Amino acid sequence: MKIIVTDNYDEMSKVAAELIAEVVERKPTATLGLATGSTPIGCYKLLADFCRQKRLSFASVKTVNLDEYVGLSASHNQSYAYFMRRNLFDSIDIELSNTRIPNGSAADVAAECAHYSALLKNNVRDVQLLGLGSNGHIGFNEPDTPFDSVTHLVNLTENTVTDNSRLFKNLEEVPRQAITMGIAEIMQAGKIVLLASGQNKARAVYDMCRGPVNAACPASILQRHPDCVAVLDKAAASLL
Ligand code: GLP
Repeated sequence: MKIIVTDNYDEMSKVAAELIAEVVERKPTATLGLATGSTPIGCYKLLADFCRQKRLSFASVKTVNLDEYVGLSASHNQSYAYFMRRNLFDSIDIELSNTRIPNGSAADVAAECAHYSALLKNNVRDVQLLGLGSNGHIGFNEPDTPFDSVTHLVNLTENTVTDNSRLFKNLEEVPRQAITMGIAEIMQAGKIVLLASGQNKARAVYDMCRGPVNAACPASILQRHPDCVAVLDKAAASLL
């Protein structure tokens, strides 16, 4: 794993945006694996700037997202579908029909997982962007998720529900389940760019980079990826 330590969130976002832009410049029909959460927002803003400045076009790009809450429709303001439109898709020249996110309001969640898994087989990611949970999760693959997992239904840990509750009115409103791309599918991407910012990620960053590769820290599997770059700010890298 290559590790890049930057001074702050803005610098981390710049490095990340350049890494994604390089992929799209080299291959305008690239498939991008995208992430949600607070961490990639700065990177998405810069990608939108690149598009506005005509440096980059997403007109032939496809995207597949990592995960979605179960029970939230795409119009709910905390759904990841809404997040992606607001933070990226509405500001770039992408065709919405080329973007995919698991359907959190599917009546048959098992069928939706199987469908998404099949879709991922046909849309191999040129680059996968990742955030990091404070418990080491990637996507919504919580600790102890098998490394060979594919898209599945997750019962979120209390840690994750509490972390994500800051974005909801109260703890009770946070969905307890999600659909997530599996770890095996995350690892299929040609390149992985993992972002982490802030002191509250420092322990998970340490376990990811320096700890043993085991399911207790799902992100530790990234040590085995042939082209993974962890872009960190100083606070997130403070235990390395
Ligand atoms: C959520 C998402 C993850 C994300 C993580 C960290 O649980 N499912 O994909 O990486 O939170 O979020 P944040 O970037 O807001 O710290």
